Amino acid sequence: MIQELFASYRVEITFLHIISAVIWVGGMIVMRYSAHYSFQNIEQADIRLKSALYALKRLFILVSPFIVILLVTAIIMSVGLGFRDAALDKSGQVINSSAMHVYNLIHVKESIWTIMTLNYLAMVLIRNNAQKLLNQHDLAGAKKRATYISSYMVPFNIVLGIIAIFMGVFLRNLY
Ligand code: HEM
Repeated sequence: MIQELFASYRVEITFLHIISAVIWVGGMIVMRYSAHYSFQNIEQADIRLKSALYALKRLFILVSPFIVILLVTAIIMSVGLGFRDAALDKSGQVINSSAMHVYNLIHVKESIWTIMTLNYLAMVLIRNNAQKLLNQHDLAGAKKRATYISSYMVPFNIVLGIIAIFMGVFLRNLY
């Protein structure tokens, strides 16, 4: 059934996969390397943090449906393109070793998606915590958490996203 779905809507499904990656990874790049520097121009520390935390909240809400669409389309594409069937027989025995290498790349992409999503969920929690501290006028605590998100967690997901995009291009050019 999934194979039929992919055969009928191949262009649309691939498009949804790519646009989801564009919005998720592109959104983080804009936030980190454009909006972030714009917030630094705001002199008042509490307004600066308030604006940055609000922008992060909007980004996290925006990307949430696309994270799910990315996974759903990934599953449809992986089954639809028959990576497992080319690599393994019904009992799970390897029938083609080069197809097995390709199938392993699918697992690597799945792992990247899982790590990116866990990192995203951790950022949501840390941002919420920073907002709570800011509301209680604990500026130092809120700033520490916001800095952690922008210095480490967002760049980490950007790097993983770029690797996943490269792997997608690689997979597409295999056949
Ligand atoms: C959930 C795990 C994932 C799986 C199983 C997966 C699988 C695939 C497959 C099989 C293709 C090739 C489609 C084709 O040839 O028609 C592809 C393409 C692509 N993937 Fe993924 N993907 C996953 C996650 C991601 C993530 C996390 C990103 C980026 C954030 C991403 C970005 C892309 C892009 C941009 C393409 C298109 C490449 C091109 O058209 O040349 N994927 N993916």
